[in-house]
Amino acid sequence: DKGLYRHYMLKEIYEQPDVIARVLEGRIHQGHVLEQVFGSGASELFDQVKMVQIVACGTSYNAGVVARYWIEKLVGIPCMVEVASEFRYRKTVCMPGTLFITISQSGETADTLSALREAKEQSYLGFLSICNVAGSSLVRESDLAIMTNAGPEIGVASTKAFTSQLVVLMLTTLVLARRYGFDDEQEIVAQLEQLIGLTEQVLALDPQIQKMAEHFVDKHHALFLGRGTIYPVAVEGALKLKEISYIHAEAYPAGELKHGPLALVDEDMPVVAIAPNNSLLEKLQANLEEVRARGGKLFLFADSKAQVKPGNDLELITLPDVPTVMAPIIYSIPLQLLAYYVACLKGTDVDQPRNLAKSVTVE
Ligand code: F6R
Repeated sequence: DKGLYRHYMLKEIYEQPDVIARVLEGRIHQGHVLEQVFGSGASELFDQVKMVQIVACGTSYNAGVVARYWIEKLVGIPCMVEVASEFRYRKTVCMPGTLFITISQSGETADTLSALREAKEQSYLGFLSICNVAGSSLVRESDLAIMTNAGPEIGVASTKAFTSQLVVLMLTTLVLARRYGFDDEQEIVAQLEQLIGLTEQVLALDPQIQKMAEHFVDKHHALFLGRGTIYPVAVEGALKLKEISYIHAEAYPAGELKHGPLALVDEDMPVVAIAPNNSLLEKLQANLEEVRARGGKLFLFADSKAQVKPGNDLELITLPDVPTVMAPIIYSIPLQLLAYYVACLKGTDVDQPRNLAKSVTVE
């Protein structure tokens, strides 16, 4: 039931504060993540993890890319991420002590399931599934599973499933990190708890984002830029826009701009930049000035730390200041709303975009 919402997608975007609360419920105790929520034998398995291989498709893959940054930073062990359709068909090398993680909303995605079956023929340490559907094939065939508790997602474009995957991936990062001497777990857990309120604040930007969407209606292309953990958020934002509004959108790590895509920038190519305060903000701002110098119009999502000169060539949406590790979760929400409102203005079928199915059970 859509309730008062015009589309399931909008309803699901707005459910995110509740979903995050549900993801955390029963998983945290006195500032620490409970390991038993990953399944029996989880602790013994986590004790032996020296490396992580993540496999997924689409939006779930983008969540995996965010997790790579988190795992390598906070745990300090190597983490590889690959799209399932590539992983399953190439010769891969499994290093001893590697935990194999699949991420999937449905748990029935053919390529992800086949990649898991393929990997089970190799010497992985164990198989963890991060999934939204209990009892799905992926969950049944994995040693360990943790549910994302997002509730049914009806809109084909994944929204609340993505943010719930990110929260679970952060819980996973924390249980691994404590084995490698990470001592800020309580701090990160407190930040996770603050996410619920922050998400509500970001949703309140809805009218501003709706206004911004008008600039995209007559465009055929858009470029999304981010750096670090925000690069996969840019990729996810571009995916949302192309899926439901049919505008060709591409994401680039901002540092790659000079290596090719800058040639595309002119007044017909809107550039969406996602720029929370982090150690890469200054570098990203330099990239943005390069865009402006070439007549490109910028649509910037940033916080109070961003220093940009206002002008006709810049539309700015200011988000609350958020802790750096939480930024990928928070910043994905305005991009969902942007794609949603562009699609509404274009009159496309938001919940059922052409050519796409909710669950891709054939390859
Ligand atoms: C995008 C989207 C798809 C899915 C992909 C994987 O909005 O929904 O890209 O993320 O088909 O599906 P799951 O997560 O069910 O394995």
